Amino acid sequence: MPSSALISASQAWRDLKGHVDEIDKTHLRSLMSDVDRCKSMMVEFDGILLDFSRQRATLETMQKLLNLAEAAHLKEKIDRMFNGEHINSTENRSVLHVALRAPRDAVINSDGKNVVQDVWQVLDKIQDFSDRVRSGSWVGATGKELKDVVAIGIGGSFLGPLFVHTALQTEPEAMECAKGRQLRFLANVDPIDIARNITGLNPETTLVVVVSKTFTTAETMLNARTMREWISSSLGPQAVAKHMVAVSTNLALVEKFGIDPKNSFAFWDWVGGRYSVCSAVGVLPLSLQYGFPIVEKFLKGASSVDNHFYSTHFEKNIPVLLGLLSVWNVTFLGYPARAILPYSQALEKFAPHIQQVSMESNGKGVSIDGLPLPYESGEIDFGEPGTNGQHSFYQLIHQGQVVPCDFIGAVKSQQPVYLKGEVVSNHDELMSNFFAQPDALAYGKTQEQLEKENVARDLVPHKTFSGNRPSLSLLFPSFNAYNIGQLLAIYEHRVAVQGFVWGINSFDQWGVELGKSLATQVRKQLNASRKNGEPIEGFNFSTKTLLSKYLEASADIPADPPTALPKI
Ligand code: F6P
Repeated sequence: MPSSALISASQAWRDLKGHVDEIDKTHLRSLMSDVDRCKSMMVEFDGILLDFSRQRATLETMQKLLNLAEAAHLKEKIDRMFNGEHINSTENRSVLHVALRAPRDAVINSDGKNVVQDVWQVLDKIQDFSDRVRSGSWVGATGKELKDVVAIGIGGSFLGPLFVHTALQTEPEAMECAKGRQLRFLANVDPIDIARNITGLNPETTLVVVVSKTFTTAETMLNARTMREWISSSLGPQAVAKHMVAVSTNLALVEKFGIDPKNSFAFWDWVGGRYSVCSAVGVLPLSLQYGFPIVEKFLKGASSVDNHFYSTHFEKNIPVLLGLLSVWNVTFLGYPARAILPYSQALEKFAPHIQQVSMESNGKGVSIDGLPLPYESGEIDFGEPGTNGQHSFYQLIHQGQVVPCDFIGAVKSQQPVYLKGEVVSNHDELMSNFFAQPDALAYGKTQEQLEKENVARDLVPHKTFSGNRPSLSLLFPSFNAYNIGQLLAIYEHRVAVQGFVWGINSFDQWGVELGKSLATQVRKQLNASRKNGEPIEGFNFSTKTLLSKYLEASADIPADPPTALPKI
């Protein structure tokens, strides 16, 4: 395909490039004084308010971005995704996470088959299984109820479920449903993570859920074997059938591992790992903890945004607007990073989840047709809940590098606190920061203002804030299960929009493979050196030196030690 197929060759792209100079002549202080502009930069949907008036953009910029969307065939690409076409071309798969939260009577076809029926078959099975575990009709090998769940998985088989679990943990309705139960996540192959996870747990009352799309991921499989040992060494090998279940697309490997296929929960190749939280990957552990009805609300919130994304004009389409603005910030204004700043402790694991969704999806070097990109795709995502972040990295955001910020807040707290005599409630105190920070970034503080305040002359440069730093605000009614589903889907689709415009494949992840295969080589060497004293070969000087040091310093570890689990 000729390089003219790249979006950077389009007139719309060139228009935006040329437009940057104009934007550079403006300051957010003056852009914010145009009330009509600000009004046009607010969108409401299903209780959510998006305010993007603090972006370094005018209405003309927005029109140019919409032209870019057209040049990139964004609408067609979204339709192709919802229609189940194989848009993940390097893996020859469709991309249908929207089917995971579609209503029971919806029809979404992949390869000529309505996948919604398969989705609901698994959801019904999860509901039945989680009800039985929660009601105590499914018990462990010694007849005790299974109150604690350890979900083993990494990457997409971990981060999404962890985010939703953390968000629901303090939500009153969900809390009530989770009384007396625990859900933990074991991801890292580091044995310390195992030690942390089994601390205080009794195998008799623990159910282990092994979550892996492929059922081959090295970290997850070693952790699964370790937890199997933890159960069988305490309760006998026959206990595994009662204490271990699995979620995977590879049910043959699940059975080979020793988990009864009746106790495994399927999902499909058309669900990308990082887009799998609405499949059994998230729904099973979350239903065990909170009950299926709560999780169904979460699915409904995501589905509501799916419909909005699919059917709303781009001018009012929240994920589309967010995606286009991200492209504007990264590619045209040259801001490579984005801070995700939820003003809710419940969302403390949101940024880590979006790091994977965004960076594994869009951190690519070639177009979907394999052409080297003459521009950067993807962005560096990081974040922390406000106000914690304010006391950490906001210094850089205010006076150092420009990092476009997403401020995410809710009208009502999950856990309101009012203290008699205080000026405001605790949530109002938190939200005062949510409202103040975007203006501080946009307006900054000038030398003149500081002089009027009689600031010592030598401190003026230090206390000056340039302002003109873009952000956007998303205000939700609250963070209940439904809203959490909405938030998830908004970000999933935003990332897809960015990828569609950049012309890349946002649904593969070949970049993670090289490190995995090199680790296999190291693993073989460690085994050969420890067991047979074989010399280190086939590595560069640096790696060889590091490996020698590592092996020499741990030479006291026996070559074939007996099984040992953490001593906790
Ligand atoms: O290494 C990256 C990755 O392939 C992710 O895309 C995926 O979410 C994760 O590993 C876990 O894979 P699996 O669910 O197959 O164990």
